[in-house]
Amino acid sequence: MDKVSLNINMELPIVELANLYRNNRSKLARVGLDSGLEDVPHRVIATNAVFAPWACDTGFRDLFEKVRSNTLVDQYCLHELWSLAGQLANVPGDVIEVGTWKGGSGCLIASRFRREGINLTTYLCDTFNGVVKAGEKDTFYKNGEHADSTVEDVENLAESLDVRSSIKILKGVFPDDTARELENHKFRLCHVDVDTYQGSKEITEWVWPRLNIGGAIIYDDCGSRNCPGVSRFVQEQIDHTDRFTIYNLNGHAITMKTG
Ligand SMILES: C[S@@+](CC[C@H](N)C(=O)[O-])C[C@H]1O[C@@H](n2cnc3c(N)ncnc32)[C@H](O)[C@@H]1O
Repeated sequence: MDKVSLNINMELPIVELANLYRNNRSKLARVGLDSGLEDVPHRVIATNAVFAPWACDTGFRDLFEKVRSNTLVDQYCLHELWSLAGQLANVPGDVIEVGTWKGGSGCLIASRFRREGINLTTYLCDTFNGVVKAGEKDTFYKNGEHADSTVEDVENLAESLDVRSSIKILKGVFPDDTARELENHKFRLCHVDVDTYQGSKEITEWVWPRLNIGGAIIYDDCGSRNCPGVSRFVQEQIDHTDRFTIYNLNGHAITMKTG
């Protein structure tokens, strides 16, 4: 194993630490990490990219400050949701998020469509009892995690952002308990943030025939250390030819419907 000598003391300026990281990137990228699943390789990812559009997007920054205490999603992924929602103006259909927790990511998406003057409903789905459907294709999650959110948390955030009338909250396991009432809906965007292989699979199978061409599914936690099941599911999507799936190194995967 390569060794890196780091001459760090407590006074090291942050810029020097950033440069140390940059200068040792290729060595870091060779460090293997165990995913707990044989067919899901993990490595330290140390990319060359430094362009950060989220830093100067004032509309986004304003919203980010308002939702950050209601979300587990980081600013890179939130900015991607914000940006993609802005690019879906011409695709018809509603929006669905499965895995809403306290509402941060879902209300941010709803806010972007409202800002663009697009009249649609954003369906926000959660058990409000924590994660379900974890199984042998997952490692960290065992079911019941993130059970600390309520419908009221989401309603209050939506009220404060003035998007209460453009969201609808569906409480229960999706698709088992709550999909029935959306049977005849069409969608332009689906955000999947459920942490498990089986959950991601069932939501994708349900939404696919209801997703309009040009629409997208975004998977949170693809590549995350705690969610190898999501990475494994996304990897399987690459076999399909009616969709275009990209693994974005921020921890998102995006599947666009092309045919
Ligand atoms: C990581 S949290 C979601 C984070 C949220 N998107 C945010 O902005 O912070 C995962 C959520 O998925 C929910 N969940 C997992 N599987 C589900 C399913 N099949 N149906 C409904 N909710 C589910 C859990 O209850 C949990 O609140």
